[in-house]
Amino acid sequence: MSTLKLAVIVGSVREGRFAPVVTSWFTDHAVRHGGFEVDVIDLAEFDLPLALPSVSPAMDPNPQRPAGMTDLTRRLGEADAFVIVTPDYNRSFPASLKAAIDWHFTQWDAKTIGFVGYSGASGGLLAIEGLRQVFNELNAHTVRNYVSFPRYYLLFDAEGNLMEPEEPAAAAQAMLDQLHWWATALTAARSLAPAM
Ligand SMILES: Cc1cc2nc3c(=O)[nH]c(=O)nc-3n(C[C@H](O)[C@H](O)[C@H](O)COP(=O)(O)O)c2cc1C
Repeated sequence: MSTLKLAVIVGSVREGRFAPVVTSWFTDHAVRHGGFEVDVIDLAEFDLPLALPSVSPAMDPNPQRPAGMTDLTRRLGEADAFVIVTPDYNRSFPASLKAAIDWHFTQWDAKTIGFVGYSGASGGLLAIEGLRQVFNELNAHTVRNYVSFPRYYLLFDAEGNLMEPEEPAAAAQAMLDQLHWWATALTAARSLAPAM
């Protein structure tokens, strides 16, 4: 199995967030999968202004970006595949994620994306479905399988371990297998011709 670059993006940036627990659980599985070199990108570490450049990154792929975004742009560009770890906020995804997405275009173009969701009753699924629509416009392919943790506070213990780990582990494995297949295909396709 060839090794591809997987960026795991932490979508929540708020103080006291639960995101690191879910991200750490997923990253362990991604590393153990064996098909990826894993880079964890925590959006809380970057400058992500809501005021976007005057021309869309779809039309100008190198707009002037804040200095505090340089490392984020480089790491998104280097990734062959992404997994976005997202909660539901008011039936959608965090604004931090939308800003990170909208500041970029070529970094997503013709790449594949998977999701790990968590929240109250809706388990991140409303954010995930919204993100699928957004990534259509970025010419990215979102994979069918996903991981969802509804009422995550009933599923993880105080040390951040899942009390019943088998089913989520199988879901993560299935999603990672799909991501690897798509990332292999799309990496080869991008090397033959620029994405259309
Ligand atoms: C502004 C806000 C809106 C939320 N909306 C929802 C929601 O629509 N559905 C849901 O199941 N949980 C909702 N929640 C609960 C969050 O998913 C939960 O607080 C989760 O811990 C957020 O992830 P984080 O701690 O990593 O930021 C909301 C939380 C916040 C702060």
